[in-house]
Amino acid sequence: MNWMLRHAAESDVPRLEELIRLSVHSLQAPYYTVAQRAEALGPVFAVDRQLIADGTYFVAEGGSGVVGCGGWSKRKSHFGGDVDRTGVDPMLNPAADAARVRAFFTHPGWARRGIGKAILSACEDAILAAGFTRVEMVATLAGEPLYLSCGYQEKERYSLHLRGDQTMQVVRMTKVFSQPPRSTQTLQPGVIAALSASADQTARELAELMKHTQSTAPLGTTPPT
Ligand SMILES: CC(C)(COP(=O)(O)OP(=O)(O)OC[C@H]1O[C@@H](n2cnc3c(N)ncnc32)[C@H](O)[C@@H]1OP(=O)(O)O)[C@@H](O)C(=O)NCCC(=O)NCCS
Repeated sequence: MNWMLRHAAESDVPRLEELIRLSVHSLQAPYYTVAQRAEALGPVFAVDRQLIADGTYFVAEGGSGVVGCGGWSKRKSHFGGDVDRTGVDPMLNPAADAARVRAFFTHPGWARRGIGKAILSACEDAILAAGFTRVEMVATLAGEPLYLSCGYQEKERYSLHLRGDQTMQVVRMTKVFSQPPRSTQTLQPGVIAALSASADQTARELAELMKHTQSTAPLGTTPPT
């Protein structure tokens, strides 16, 4: 394996945009026409900076730079970039809602080397750790074989309306988890690196929260009501 996973950063966006364009025009070519792909790039296939800000988007870094990406979301949107979004993407409730799997793209020169599967595995561990027990996604026909191979089931096949008269066929897929999170000891080194970065981020957020809590209402000093 000559690539490794890490969390995406805002500075990756230009490289991610280029990767998405390359991946769509190459790996989706057997499934969608040139016109469909051209109309979907932007509204459907794009970077969602909210996932990067949430720490739920991964990149695979290979010899030549970013060679894969994909993530999950604790927010309502199923697909699309953030550019046309008006307002906040609402948070999901892990106890009642299904987490989302979002925006997987592999560089055509790096396809079928396990990058998509490794990113999905890192997402599933993070989804379980966040308390979700179900995942839902809208998959492209190009993505369907990956998700089927990872235990996702087809729920519905429908045509997504694009700009103009174009439509594209997509598949709503779901997975229900019955197992607790896997031990990181069984994961590949790249996935471990991504997960420990995630744990570091959570620890930093907790430390910030504690600082804030202590400065506004020290623990144990709240008067009884
Ligand atoms: C879908 C996509 C991300 C898969 O990425 P990848 O890194 O090549 O996937 P992996 O190498 O991890 O594949 C894992 C398994 O998924 C299945 N799979 C993946 N691509 C497949 C294909 N084109 N045909 C058949 N099976 C496929 C296989 O079972 C594969 O295991 P194998 O190679 O040992 O047979 C990639 O094809 C892509 O970027 N497609 C274009 C963009 C897109 O449509 N993304 C999906 C958005 S929902």
